Amino acid sequence: MAGSLLDGKATLITGAGSGIGAATAVVFARHGAKVIVADIDEEAGRRTVAEVEAAGGEAAFVWVDVRRSDAVKDMVDFTVERFGRLDCAVNNAGVDTAGDGRLHEVGEEAWDASITVNLKGVWWCMKHELARMVQQGSGSIVNVASVAGLVGIEAPFVSAYVAAKHGVVGLTKAAALEYATSGIRVNAVCPGAVRTQMVDDLIAQGIMTLEQTAAYHPVGRYANPPEIGEAIAWLSSDAASFVTGLPMAVDGAMTAR
Ligand SMILES: NC(=O)c1ccc[n+]([C@@H]2O[C@H](COP(=O)([O-])OP(=O)(O)OC[C@H]3O[C@@H](n4cnc5c(N)ncnc54)[C@H](O)[C@@H]3O)[C@@H](O)[C@H]2O)c1
Repeated sequence: MAGSLLDGKATLITGAGSGIGAATAVVFARHGAKVIVADIDEEAGRRTVAEVEAAGGEAAFVWVDVRRSDAVKDMVDFTVERFGRLDCAVNNAGVDTAGDGRLHEVGEEAWDASITVNLKGVWWCMKHELARMVQQGSGSIVNVASVAGLVGIEAPFVSAYVAAKHGVVGLTKAAALEYATSGIRVNAVCPGAVRTQMVDDLIAQGIMTLEQTAAYHPVGRYANPPEIGEAIAWLSSDAASFVTGLPMAVDGAMTAR
């Protein structure tokens, strides 16, 4: 896949076992990147590796729990051992914590479950990725935040998720400034609703309906995972060389209102 947007880029994607992460792995491979598929779910991760290979790309699986510093460090080391460097990191692993009630009804356990994966997990990943990228003097990080990182979402009740995703946008901006002269760009994508397992689970739990999901977006539909992957691919590529510190809405105009 020579001559492509991400030709030969050594890429690491967390949460690449399903949904947005899996689609992004395939999109990156189609654009010429070599991909490390990292996930807590080994079976799902290996399925993504097979999908990338079926699309003619190069990929390998590494197990990670983004809540654990040692596992995250091993993931970065694995990428460097395998590809010799880390050009692009996509911090996408996340959990949905909708439906816990309004803020005064949310328990400490539910709060911690969201913050530990959705915010602290991204921080662990950035910490270990940046250590490597500083050594190289180059790199790109794209964090997968959400429209919930830009605005509040009143229903389904997701205050902890909104707080975590705003935190991811904050970390993105802070790091973009701290590493601006180190050859490292740090951006975020903020998707609207995307048809993935996460959304299917919310529908199955009766927390929202597909029609509601589509109606949230002025374009009248939810996103498909590769549409998010393409935005991440462009932000990660040298084509976006002057773009850093950007939380980019990919939301069918949802936050334009
Ligand atoms: N689906 C949406 O509508 C939507 C919208 C905006 C943002 N997002 C964000 O996009 C990202 C991906 O969501 P998705 O919809 O593809 O979800 P998904 O549930 O389909 O995929 C999430 C992946 O992350 C993995 N994961 C979960 N906890 C992990 C951990 N501790 N360590 C490593 N991997 C872990 C899961 O095994 C899974 O493969 C999340 O950060 C989510 O918050 C999703």
